[in-house]
Amino acid sequence: MKTDAQPVALVTGANKGIGLAITQQLAARGYIVYLASRDEQRGAEAKASIERLGLDVRPIRLDVTDADSIATAAGRLQDEVGSLDVLVNNAGIAGQPLPPSQCDAQTLREVYEANVIGPVSVTRRLLPLLRAGHRRTIVNVSSELGSLTLHSYPDFPFAPVNLLAYCSSKTALNAFTVLLAKELQGENFRVNAVNPGFTATDLNGFTGKRSVERAAEIVAKYATLDASGPTGGFFTESGMLPW
Ligand SMILES: NC(=O)c1ccc[n+]([C@@H]2O[C@H](COP(=O)([O-])OP(=O)(O)OC[C@H]3O[C@@H](n4cnc5c(N)ncnc54)[C@H](OP(=O)(O)O)[C@@H]3O)[C@@H](O)[C@H]2O)c1
Repeated sequence: MKTDAQPVALVTGANKGIGLAITQQLAARGYIVYLASRDEQRGAEAKASIERLGLDVRPIRLDVTDADSIATAAGRLQDEVGSLDVLVNNAGIAGQPLPPSQCDAQTLREVYEANVIGPVSVTRRLLPLLRAGHRRTIVNVSSELGSLTLHSYPDFPFAPVNLLAYCSSKTALNAFTVLLAKELQGENFRVNAVNPGFTATDLNGFTGKRSVERAAEIVAKYATLDASGPTGGFFTESGMLPW
């Protein structure tokens, strides 16, 4: 049962990794959290893992590349809660690790479908529910690998990770962030891109150095901003990142 004081959040790609940890942290802060996953079984298992911590979340099927699944999820939110306070566009894939000169069109398409067109489509479909909510907050889970400025510094620690599809998909997600924030400026929205940092998850074969809990804390911070919080920015643990 939703009370007026209880904000509602939806996290995509929430069945594992950073998304699962974000979901858990928002639930611990009292949010009603829709744990969105493209596979129902994986969503149910993730809900069970959160329940073992004494927290409740609502699993919902949502494949960010499937318009029908996005529409069905939006319809369920409309019926159950009627509004959405926070959207975390977290779902993402790495794709084939190919440098620019070897990246084929299929790899580029697959990664852009999940990392760019997905968040754009989910946001567009959920915007009426976000407008009906009180907090009007959107977080796009990006990466410092999407920063063109950082890639142009030879001493950027991740300079060797020169993967056209993944890196440029996050650059495009950043562009969506800036332009959407500008469009929604007059409507008291906060739209930000957040870099969770190099984190041990399936995405990188668990080579990342930080825990999902620590990565999720950064995202949760920008997902729970109050009305005075920034919009149109690109943030990491230590502050702003260059585009
Ligand atoms: N890990 C890092 O070092 C790092 C650094 C910077 C940014 N990020 C970003 O953080 C986000 C989360 O990544 P992660 O590291 O937690 O990776 P992960 O453990 O591989 O989790 C990715 C999640 O996205 C879901 N997903 C993939 N395609 C989807 C689709 N079409 N529809 C819905 N869900 C989909 C996956 O679902 P399935 O389980 O069904 O595959 C999974 O739940 C991504 O956007 C990633 O780019 C990660």
